[in-house]
Amino acid sequence: MLIHGQPFRTIWPTASGAVEIIDQTRLPHAVVIVALETLDDAVEAISTMRVRGAPLIGVAAAWGLALAMRADSSDAALTDAGRRLKASRPTAVNLAWAVDRVTAELAALPLSAREAAAYGLAHDITEEDVVACRRIGENGADLIAAAAALKPGEVVNILTHCNAGWLATVDWGTALAPIYVAQERGIPLHVWVDETRPRNQGAALTAFELGQQGVDHTIIVDNVGGHLMQHGRVDLCLVGADRITRTGDAANKIGTYLKALAATDNGVDFHIAAPASTIDWTLTDGVAQIPIEERDGAEVTHMTGALADGGLATVQISAPGSPAVNFGFDVTPARLITSFVTEHGVHPASEAGLGSLPH
Ligand code: MRU
Repeated sequence: MLIHGQPFRTIWPTASGAVEIIDQTRLPHAVVIVALETLDDAVEAISTMRVRGAPLIGVAAAWGLALAMRADSSDAALTDAGRRLKASRPTAVNLAWAVDRVTAELAALPLSAREAAAYGLAHDITEEDVVACRRIGENGADLIAAAAALKPGEVVNILTHCNAGWLATVDWGTALAPIYVAQERGIPLHVWVDETRPRNQGAALTAFELGQQGVDHTIIVDNVGGHLMQHGRVDLCLVGADRITRTGDAANKIGTYLKALAATDNGVDFHIAAPASTIDWTLTDGVAQIPIEERDGAEVTHMTGALADGGLATVQISAPGSPAVNFGFDVTPARLITSFVTEHGVHPASEAGLGSLPH
């Protein structure tokens, strides 16, 4: 997608064997490209959220394994790299999915073949993500078209939470891909962008990418969605997911559950867009079984933003000395989800609904 009119992806290999990323901790204030040369660099980039979003951290982990194999292709190095990458963020299953897929293929190869194979697999996973997200866009745009058909000549209002756009994937995004395809189709739409405290992926990243693509949008604080729904100002909700159980419960950025409750109470459709690699087929109860990342409380008590002169500053916004807890995700039960949009179609949020997907 576009930054300042130029097409970009979030991650790409270089001719020297390094991997470059857009450093998302610097957006929207600066577009900074960072080179990852080593496994350590990849682990740091994932854990500090220079790259973030479930599909993208899976892709980044695949490239991290390639960087690890470049340095040492032994069994011990492969196992250690997989363990460290999986531990870098716990909730999104795409990361473990990518590590397991690459590790299984490399483990069957002689050491001399592993580096080239790891780069090839990372390339494949990257391209597959682009194709899957575009398909999610096509399938989800049909839902937006259906909403548009109910109010001819009027703008479709979509509420999204966090950032499940192209910055959370390699390109296109999951929840925002249908919006970009709907825009291509000429459907008039407007996006309510949840700010998404404490890291503000909505205000910083979703608003940035929608603005760069020319999509009409408005940033709202996280507690506004219910009010908008009560007043008929949201036609549908469209969010991403970090892990979906086989029964259709879905973990996504903290606060998603409350939006789904408000949507259900107001008869607003609540759709989740994600590639099939986000489904954890081993789990049946999202609330009980999905591991929820807890991050540093300083992300709650402090905020970083741009000063008038363009420099960045971090300020404390809380009472000094008060502790803060910082859960990164929550789980929305299947009963509150209207449908899942994947690269394979639109599916009811139930074991039967998801059961036809490849696994
Ligand atoms: O903590 P983040 O920024 O990695 O969380 C991102 C989200 O919760 C997204 O909604 C989710 O990963 C889906 S991304 C297509």
